[in-house]
Formats: sequence, C-alpha cells, structure tokens
Amino acid sequence: MIDQFQRPLHDLRISVTDRCNFRCVYCMPKEVFGKDFAFMERDELLSFEEITRLARISVAHGVEKIRLTGGEPLLRKGIEELVAMLAALHTPDGRPIDIAMTTNGSVLALKAQALKDAGLKRVTVSLDSLDDATFQAMNDVKFPVAKVLTSLDVAHSVGLGPIKINMVLKRGQNDKDVVAMARHFKGTPYILRFIEYMDVGSSNGWEMADVVPSNEVVARINAELPLVEVTPNYNGETSRRWRYRDGGGEIGVISSVTQSFCHSCSRARVSTDGKLFTCLFATEGHDLRALMRGGCTDEQLAAVMKQIWRERTDRYSELRSAETGRLRASGKKRIEMSYIGG
Ligand code: GTP
Ligand code: 5AD
Ligand code: SF4
Ligand code: SF4
Repeated sequence: MIDQFQRPLHDLRISVTDRCNFRCVYCMPKEVFGKDFAFMERDELLSFEEITRLARISVAHGVEKIRLTGGEPLLRKGIEELVAMLAALHTPDGRPIDIAMTTNGSVLALKAQALKDAGLKRVTVSLDSLDDATFQAMNDVKFPVAKVLTSLDVAHSVGLGPIKINMVLKRGQNDKDVVAMARHFKGTPYILRFIEYMDVGSSNGWEMADVVPSNEVVARINAELPLVEVTPNYNGETSRRWRYRDGGGEIGVISSVTQSFCHSCSRARVSTDGKLFTCLFATEGHDLRALMRGGCTDEQLAAVMKQIWRERTDRYSELRSAETGRLRASGKKRIEMSYIGG
C-alpha cells in the first residue's frame, strides 16, 4: 500500500482510551479536560475484537508495527487481553509484528509482567523531568517522579525493551533539565528522547516561542557530554539518534517542528472510537467503526482502508506555518492527541 508520495503504510497507532490520569500541560490541560469534560462512553470505544480485526487487516496489507496509545492505555480494562490478541498476528510471510505501547508509567509497575506475558515487546515511557516540582507542574496531578522510575525498572526487569523515555520540552518549564536528564540516563539501558512541543490539538495554547529546537538540545548536551550522530534504525524513524562518544549509550531527538519527517511518514492512526486518521494533524477521520458495526466484510474493509491510504497526501509538519494560520482562520478544530493517539 503506497500513498500519493510513495510512502508505504507500515505503522499503526491505536488509541485504546481517550482518558488519562495525568493532565500534562501540553496534552490535556486541566482547564479544558476538567470535571465536566465528556469522555467517550464505553459503547463508543472499539471493542478488543474490533481493534484486532482492523489490526489483522492492516497486517495483511503491510503493517509490521502496532503501537497502543491513548490517553493512558493502561487505564483500559483488560488491556493485556488485547495485547495477547494482537501478539497472535503475523505478517503474510510469517514474522511476528512489533507491538509497543506508549505509557505515562503511572501503573506500569503493576502491569509490566502481565503485559510481557501477553506478548508486548516494548514500552515507551513519558517522563518530563527528574525534579518533582517540575514534573508535577507538568503532569498537573502531583504525580511523583519516583513512581515512574520504579515502573521503568520493573519494566526493564521483566524484559520489556528496549525501553525509550519520551521527554517533551516546553520552554521555561523543563528545558533547564535537559542535561540533568541526559546525565541520569547515560549508561543505563534506557534511551532518552527529547521531543519538540507540537501544535497538536486545539487545547494546549501552543506557541512557537514554547518550542525548544532539537539543535539547541543536542548542542547543550554535547557541550558537557560529547555526542556523535548515528544512522537511523529504519527509514521513517521519528527520532534522530546520537550516541555518547565515550560509549555511554544513545539519545534521540524528535524534531517534528524544526525538521519535519513527513517525507517518510508511514503511520496511520485509529482513534478511540474507530476513526482512521492519516495524519496526527488531521481534522477529520474515516469512520471504520460504522462500517464494522454495519456488517461489512473484511474484504470491504480492506478495500476502504487501501483507498484511503492510496489517496493520502498529508504532510502537515512540512507545511506547518501556513497550515496553522489557515486552520486558525477557518475555526476548524484539530483532533486532540489523547483521542487520536500520540
Ligand atoms: P519507535 O517505534 O520506538 O521508533 O517509536 P516512535 O518514535 O514511532 O513512537 P513514539 O510514540 O515514542 O513517538 C514519540 C513522539 O514523536 C510522539 O509522542 C510524538 O510527539 C512524535 N510523533 C510520533 N509520530 C509522529 C508523527 O507521525 N508525526 C508527528 N508530527 N509527530 C510524531
Ligand atoms: N507535543 C509533542 N508531544 C506530545 N505528546 C502529547 N502531546 C504532545 C505535544 N503537544 C506526546 C508525548 C508523550 C506522548 C504520550 O504524547 O511524547 O510522551
Ligand atoms: Fe496523559 Fe500522556 Fe497526554 Fe500526559 S501526554 S496527559 S500522560 S496522554
Ligand atoms: Fe506524518 Fe502528519 Fe506527522 Fe507529517 S505531520 S509526520 S504526515 S503524522
């Protein structure tokens, strides 16, 4: 399956819940996602069978990597059963698929063993600072750093890995912690990745001035802990990799604002309620849940998905400045990351 820019569909990201127990300022700010916010009802969510059906069809057509996201995916009841269902899928030539999860780590210590047993390969854990005051100001629910660090260790000890750590940088909030984070995770089994704060969704009040460019991050670390660039693991990787000259492991930078990677974007996203989105910044998705609940066959579903991918022209990050203005002017709402899946 190839889109209008010759990009294959390789990676499916599935949001299994729009809920989260954190209120990160760049993702689900409290003022918007407050007590009265209407999260989805149970019957609106795709069932595990529906998710697995979409995954099976996607895998039959080239997807080799599935990432479970949210919201916080570990809040979805019985998530390990879904992992087990997905882990049973194989590529047409019989290889297992890569099944990963992006989590905030809050309950990972409790679930890591069950997830590993179910067939999860690896986790990526979000952690924005090692300093409690800073981290708690960012998660906005007073969640302590220590619990996330424990989760990381438990996940590592049960064999979920390689484990990556995602740190979203927001200017003036946690950019002071760049070198401390690098130092802390240098020489550990964890791969720390610095992420540029993006203008995703319509809630976070994003401004370019809040973005810390990856070049600045690399320069700041390199000044104290010398780095050399490493070639990507695969075509279409979101992060650029750097390793410590002294052999202390590697870091990554994800620069979707200052150096977009749309040219090799092979990711499709399924929202919590079963809409297919061909870009993180889409304003509308295609309702696959309606098709499934309306009784369509696997062949019909596959045909629809192929058609959507074939017509795909998304490259939002490459067009960002023009598009941001146009979208604001049109009043169209972008989809929130917690719903579409980070
Ligand atoms: P690996 O499989 O480990 O390479 O993971 P990944 O980098 O594909 O996934 P992860 O969920 O760790 O993504 C990290 C962050 O990169 C996300 O939280 C986003 O901030 C950003 N990101 C991921 N995919 C996209 C994308 O398609 N477009 C843009 N603009 N940003 C993305
Ligand atoms: N910009 C960049 N990354 C974001 N995430 C959520 N919101 C944003 C944003 N505005 C990503 C982070 C986090 C994951 C769950 O979603 O990487 O680790
Ligand atoms: Fe929750 Fe992750 Fe969003 Fe934070 S970034 S609010 S942990 S989904
Ligand atoms: Fe892919 Fe859209 Fe992100 Fe570009 S902005 S990398 S097309 S999801």
